[in-house]
Amino acid sequence: MKHLLKLMDLSAKEISEILNIADQLKYERKNGIPHHILEGKTLGMIFQKSSTRTRVSFETGMYQIGGSALFLSSRDLQIGRGEPVQDTARVLSRYLDGIMIRTFDQAEVEALAEYGSIPIINGLTDYCHPCQVLADLMTIREYKGSFTGRKLCYIGDGNNMANSLIVGGIKMGMSVAIACPDDYQPDPEIMKWAAENGDFLCTSDIPAAAKDADVLYTDVWASMGQEGEAEMRKAIFKGYQINDEVMAVAKPDAMVLHCLPARREEEITAKVFETHAGEIFEEAENRLHAQKAVMVKLMGGDR
Ligand code: CP
Ligand code: NVA
Repeated sequence: MKHLLKLMDLSAKEISEILNIADQLKYERKNGIPHHILEGKTLGMIFQKSSTRTRVSFETGMYQIGGSALFLSSRDLQIGRGEPVQDTARVLSRYLDGIMIRTFDQAEVEALAEYGSIPIINGLTDYCHPCQVLADLMTIREYKGSFTGRKLCYIGDGNNMANSLIVGGIKMGMSVAIACPDDYQPDPEIMKWAAENGDFLCTSDIPAAAKDADVLYTDVWASMGQEGEAEMRKAIFKGYQINDEVMAVAKPDAMVLHCLPARREEEITAKVFETHAGEIFEEAENRLHAQKAVMVKLMGGDR
């Protein structure tokens, strides 16, 4: 494993290894055991979109494992003035030990990896959000013990989160059901792969998707870059919400996850959100541990 560009590139074994390292790092962090595994290494973090969790968890995570992190806003880099990503990749590879990038186009992340010579980590594109789903899988395993036989139901836009949840869920042996409007389905190639490789359902029938689910997941109706469509999307996605009716058809002990930021009374009611805040904020914390594990695995740690 040289990069984390998308979960499709990882085997189930590699995902499990990351989750195991993450569990160990979480244990060490909770018990005050230092783990300066990447002493002297530097991560560059390129952001073309906003971030609270990704930025802070990568930056502090890198510090905790002994390295340092540079926040590189694309507004300040020459990339924002049109310097090609191919050149940026070759230059930054000579200074840094790894790059985390959050941007719009998945092709840009893939080009960084192709032209650079250091590990590239996808911190979210319009296509996928692999770091988030590694933290989600870690949280699911923490709460449910194992993946096999578990059902993950995602309700909402067939966006970057849906794409990564399908791949991560199916690879780890869960059954995955997506409830979304017909015109807002996840990536067709990912859905085809999921249908061929696991137990997968995509439907506009919310109760059918949520029935007997162990994990319910949702995300905003309008992602970053879609702010101009927000009002239109409110009308289209109305009802694609985790609420009491959805909870009633899921398993009685179902957990609720949300990548955050959340918009209460849109994709999730305030009541369900607060009832399940324990899981949701554990999930947010696990971004830190899962990403430290990714950096250790990619950037030369000895675990
Ligand atoms: N979930 C997530 O990636 O959050 P940020 O946009 O705050 O990084
Ligand atoms: N789908 C959301 C996820 C945010 C973490 C977005 O892309 O804005």
